[in-house]
Amino acid sequence: MLGQMKSEYAPEEQVFYPDLSFSTRANVRDARIYDWAGMDYENYWAEEAKKLHWYQPWNKILEWQSPFAQWFVGGKLNACVNCVDRHLNSWYRNKAAIIFEGEPGDQVVLTYQDLHREVSKFANVLRGLGVAKGDVVTIYMPMIPEAVIAMLACARIGAPHSLVFGGFSAEALRDRIQDAEAKVVVTTDGSWRRGKSIPLKQNVDNALVSCPSVEKVVVVRRTGCDIYMEPNRDVFYHELMKEAPLTCEPEVMDAEDTLFILYTSGTTGKPKGIVHTTGGYLTGVTSTHRNLFDLKEDDIYWCTADIGWITGHSYIVYGPLANGATVFIYEGAPDYPERDRFWELIEKYRVSIFYTAPTAIRLFMKWGESYPQSRDLSSLRLLGSVGEPINPEAWLWYHKHIGGERCPIVDTWWQTETGSVMVAPLPGLTPTKPGSATMSLPGIAADVVNELGEPVKAGESGYLVIKKPWPSMLRTIYKDPQRYVDQYWSRFEGMYFTGDGARRDKDGYIWVLGRVDDVINVSGHRIGTAEVESALVEHPAVAEAAVIGRSHELKGQAVSAFVTLREGIAWAPELEKDLKSYVAKKIGGLARPEEIICTWELPKTRSGKIMRRLLKDIAEGRTLGDTSTLADASVINQLIRQMEA
Ligand code: WT7
Repeated sequence: MLGQMKSEYAPEEQVFYPDLSFSTRANVRDARIYDWAGMDYENYWAEEAKKLHWYQPWNKILEWQSPFAQWFVGGKLNACVNCVDRHLNSWYRNKAAIIFEGEPGDQVVLTYQDLHREVSKFANVLRGLGVAKGDVVTIYMPMIPEAVIAMLACARIGAPHSLVFGGFSAEALRDRIQDAEAKVVVTTDGSWRRGKSIPLKQNVDNALVSCPSVEKVVVVRRTGCDIYMEPNRDVFYHELMKEAPLTCEPEVMDAEDTLFILYTSGTTGKPKGIVHTTGGYLTGVTSTHRNLFDLKEDDIYWCTADIGWITGHSYIVYGPLANGATVFIYEGAPDYPERDRFWELIEKYRVSIFYTAPTAIRLFMKWGESYPQSRDLSSLRLLGSVGEPINPEAWLWYHKHIGGERCPIVDTWWQTETGSVMVAPLPGLTPTKPGSATMSLPGIAADVVNELGEPVKAGESGYLVIKKPWPSMLRTIYKDPQRYVDQYWSRFEGMYFTGDGARRDKDGYIWVLGRVDDVINVSGHRIGTAEVESALVEHPAVAEAAVIGRSHELKGQAVSAFVTLREGIAWAPELEKDLKSYVAKKIGGLARPEEIICTWELPKTRSGKIMRRLLKDIAEGRTLGDTSTLADASVINQLIRQMEA
């Protein structure tokens, strides 16, 4: 029971200081960076932005009409040029940009020169299909080099991309295509997962039944599975690429032009299209990637996230490539064909920086240390963690069994909305404590405040907020600026509200506690309780549904659903199974409830609000919190008896 494991020491007491051999060579070694950035955060970020390639410099660093920000006003640049073309003027042109290994073991290496050619060709292909600056392209692909090529090709011609994680269902894909009004979809025939081909193209076909905006679908051959090709709509990538010219004039973009939209779950049933722009976003991800991961020119950098999530956008594609990193990409599952696949890959490619999620670390812990022990992991020099709070046990295991007690660990707190990391240690400077993301990065003003927006005292908990704008912040929610204001800037006057709770310790360190809103974090992925609830009530058997996140030893949180049934419907194990698959079909496998509990009534307040807090107590087997506002206490007693049975 990892979740319940009690350690013999208070984790807060344990402090790990950066090794002298590491810190003397670190990219950031002068602690005054915090003071300097804190005194003048605008100029701090402007200095970082100057490290990029600009066609035209900005005339104002920040235009802040709270809560709407514009960074590097008047500046012109192109994100693709920064990630690719810029490296062609030095020996980097022959450096590996991408080293790829597919699940079946196939390998591809693309130098920056190769990447430039492939991206330029595909940018020409997209233009040939009628994609112009401002047109949205939806990308629904597995972790293969063509996905990165497609993203950068969009950036090159100024077409915002909207990636949809390959694990999302046809219906979830449809909603995201419709909201973005995408003109083109780029996909593959299928995607490899533990030796099976997942039918991505078929999902696209199903989604497109009601997506009138889509004119063309580009299909990359990956698994070779049978697919249907719609005449006049569907075209093969390899056929178009054969004819495509090798160079493509990039679009000169305004710093505030949209680079991409990425959908994420919120507190309502409808996913939010988070909008990121070009200059500020690229500045944020490039700077933080260089500083946090201490990137050196000979590093092999591996971030295990999927490019369909923000971590993939910022720390597989834009940050690393803008820094000229060699990025390793792996397509498949960590236990295929064996449970040592990740360690095998680290040994084989001599990976030096490894960035993964606590949920994966807990899984590796469960599998046991014999798997990493049987491989040579001596190439590793820095480890990262992202996606959810890392429990101290997992941190210590990661440090010992993967990092060989020599690699600093950067626990990075951030969100789809923040674009880049906000709270994390700098590996050469910051003493770390297992389980704490430590403190704001230079130029970032994160704080923990109480209900009134006042900073909490040492040892107290409150809400995690960010008090000053930052370059890579979301600019708005696509087509819904009011929701942007309400969601993030209304709870505390003049502060960005993250939706997370946090504690500040006696040394000022921030300990992120998790979401305080109706968002569940399953294995580092966000699921809105409202989305799962609306999927459940669409099912003909269900009258009402309440969904909560309960703690889970591997996933961090698991989806737990409580339902009442319609008149005349009887509860049965098959119905529970059916409801679970129904949710997976509506949203995706990630949202599949761990359990569904049938009750005759949901616990509600006298005003009719479902008391999710009590359901959470029940699901986690805790003594109930305050029940005085409950309309009918017998509902809860019945549920407790049911759970005990
Ligand atoms: C939520 C954001 C951008 C990271 C991938 C997930 C949680 C993320 C940490 C961390 C504690 C974390 C928060 C946050 N979270 N990283 N290091 N420690 N919690 O991005 O889907 O936008 O989710 O993930 O709850 O709000 P996301």
